[in-house]
Amino acid sequence: MEYIINGANRLYGEIAVYGAKNCALPLLGASVLTDEDVVIHNCPYIVDVANMIDLLKAMGKNITWQGDTVVVSGKLNTVKAPEKYATLLRGSALILGGVVAKYNEIELPLPGGCAIGARPIDIHLAGLQALGVDVQCRDSSVICRGKPCGARYHMRFASVGATENLLCASVLARGETILSNAATEPEVVALEEMLVAMGADIEGVGGVDITVRGTDKLHGAEFTVIPDRIVVATYLSAAVAATGRVTVTNCRPEHLRSFINKLETRFAVKEYFDAITLTADSQPSDYGRIITAPYPFFPTDMQSLTMSLAAFSNGGKTIICENLFENRLQSNAAELNKMGANIIVKDNKAIIYGSNLRGITVQARDLRGGAGLVIAGLNARGQTVVRGVEHINRGYCNLAESLAELGADITENT
Ligand code: UD1
Repeated sequence: MEYIINGANRLYGEIAVYGAKNCALPLLGASVLTDEDVVIHNCPYIVDVANMIDLLKAMGKNITWQGDTVVVSGKLNTVKAPEKYATLLRGSALILGGVVAKYNEIELPLPGGCAIGARPIDIHLAGLQALGVDVQCRDSSVICRGKPCGARYHMRFASVGATENLLCASVLARGETILSNAATEPEVVALEEMLVAMGADIEGVGGVDITVRGTDKLHGAEFTVIPDRIVVATYLSAAVAATGRVTVTNCRPEHLRSFINKLETRFAVKEYFDAITLTADSQPSDYGRIITAPYPFFPTDMQSLTMSLAAFSNGGKTIICENLFENRLQSNAAELNKMGANIIVKDNKAIIYGSNLRGITVQARDLRGGAGLVIAGLNARGQTVVRGVEHINRGYCNLAESLAELGADITENT
């Protein structure tokens, strides 16, 4: 699948944002903590979410999906996650904590081997071990056994996924768990709030130090997925790329403060309680220095978008330091350079000099990088073909259609 983009159309209009993939996945993962109904509203219909639902169904959960509401109920009939589904998405690791807490055992095949590669899960596993769970890595699976028991655990890094797993493991643990250096991303806070709605006893919701007093049983709950802040940043980036005026509604501007801070000194940005309007008439010289780090600092998921913005800025120099996933820099820089960008990457640092981009065929190699290439295509002179749209579809609902609604000349070729 590919996108065909003819750049230079200005974008105008209003667009509503849907629920965040990175919120829906841990909420679905947490649904295993109870047999009662967990009702999740504003659930985005995207590939990763559909794969997570298939995984839970394959393990025995009853799941119905009506409109944007997903209802999960019933018991698991196996603690062995089928490889066919588990290896489809990295988010499958988010069921570890919940399943081991409720069923005291899980066997989960991992994509790309156990705890190795670019996205290890050593913090998840060390945290579970600290809670007394026996963790074994066999071939390309991880097997966890035992009832979690309250303990103190300091995460060496504020990992989003590890925080989510350890929260789920500790809500049904025996005794009190104190997690320190926990991640505070809005999606983590949403999970904490849903767990509280399910009857969990959590002190310090939203903080880096969290105390969880284990309970015997959780009950069902109804919860709404928070708006996808990365999709908001994508639409705002599109408005910059193509120039024009775009209002993104149904969002929470405070969730992307560090990104908005970069934009509001360069464009006319108007913030409302649940909407943002950006007006762009021309490109700024540069975006200064961008350093990715855990929330509330600049998110790695918005780094690829910003690299594209910097690539077509007006001749100035932008520096990006990618501190989370350094391999996110290299491949996108190479594709953007094919479009005429001037980006030099060394280790985890990219130096970008603003240039005029031209349309050409480029290859998306990951979800966020793919979105960045679409943004570049909206700005480039001539026709850009973005291949590898499957990566983009893992995290966006109809990206091409949404941008076309705003006036972009973008079509999908299957
Ligand atoms: C989540 C998001 C992803 C986002 C990332 C950082 C989901 C489904 N995905 O991913 O979109 O880019 O947060 O905001 O929510 N690490 C380890 N050991 C571990 C865990 C992580 O070394 O056990 C490292 C990772 O390699 C990476 C960094 O910690 O360098 C951040 O990873 P983490 O916060 O765990 O990201 P994810 O939860 O995988």
